[in-house]
Amino acid sequence: EQRVTRQLILQERVRATLATRDVNTHKGGAGKALVLGGSSAMTGAPIMTTKSCLRSGAGLVTMAVPESIHHVVTQHVIESMFASLKDDQGEILNEALKQINWAEFDGIALGPGMGRKHRLSLFEQFKDIQSYLVIDADGLYHLQKELASWRGEHRLGPTIITPHSGEMARLTGCSVEEIETHRFSISKAFAKDYNMYVVLKGPHTIVTTPSGKQWVNTTGNASLAKGGTGDMLTGMILGFLLQHQKIEDALCNAVYVHGKAADHLLETHDIFSVNATDLISVLPKVLKSLR
Ligand code: APR
Ligand code: MG
Repeated sequence: EQRVTRQLILQERVRATLATRDVNTHKGGAGKALVLGGSSAMTGAPIMTTKSCLRSGAGLVTMAVPESIHHVVTQHVIESMFASLKDDQGEILNEALKQINWAEFDGIALGPGMGRKHRLSLFEQFKDIQSYLVIDADGLYHLQKELASWRGEHRLGPTIITPHSGEMARLTGCSVEEIETHRFSISKAFAKDYNMYVVLKGPHTIVTTPSGKQWVNTTGNASLAKGGTGDMLTGMILGFLLQHQKIEDALCNAVYVHGKAADHLLETHDIFSVNATDLISVLPKVLKSLR
């Protein structure tokens, strides 16, 4: 008989598990985050991830982008630090990843807007790194290309993937229809086989741990069906991972708060008019309402 290991992410759970901050916290102790992404075609994605990470508790955030867009991103974020990486045709080169000392960061989010022109060797880069690694968007494309090396492997630190149904279909070789009809079982099998936390996004986002525990989100609405909202979630997940003791709490709380921010916006905004960056402006209020 199978044990029931699925629960809803409800407000009481979020209130009870939301991370707090000690009076003696210093910026280094609040977590050093790295956002890696962007390309000449997608300059906004890593900016949004960085901004939402900054609003989600991270003490220090560094944004690493291809050198050709460095001058653009620095105009839009003033609270983070920057690293510019050698690129070609506006996208990060694999060899440029070796410039970064990953161990300096407690958590890394990789993928928003990064592009697919050059093959990136993620497993080789990250297998011996202890930091949290969140892989999203085009990062999932690079992951899929070398998925065989990840199967059954244990990276030194926890790995979290944040696919939407299309990205999950590509990762698993299933059709989008199959993903949508078997969201729980497919997430669970993938999380176990690859030893990853899976945040399968969509109208009812599912969080799955490698051991098979699952939660379903209860917030959010169709205003989120717009480019950039996923990049915002990635930044929140990265920020929350650095604040919470338990990874599952960080993930459940991030998806709940992200959806709640969209619900809050519908009180004042038409469903067509919610933009991804509006989520950042209401995040402070929504988070505060959960204390
Ligand atoms: N109801 C509730 N939540 C929704 C809905 C909906 N109808 N539609 C989307 N969402 C939420 C998802 O749960 C997720 O948190 O909005 C977010 C969308 O994230 P993504 O699908 O990753 O969107 P985003 O990355 O911002 O934009 C599309 O995905 O396919 C890639 O590279 C492509 O850049 C493109 C990007
Ligand atoms: Mg996305």
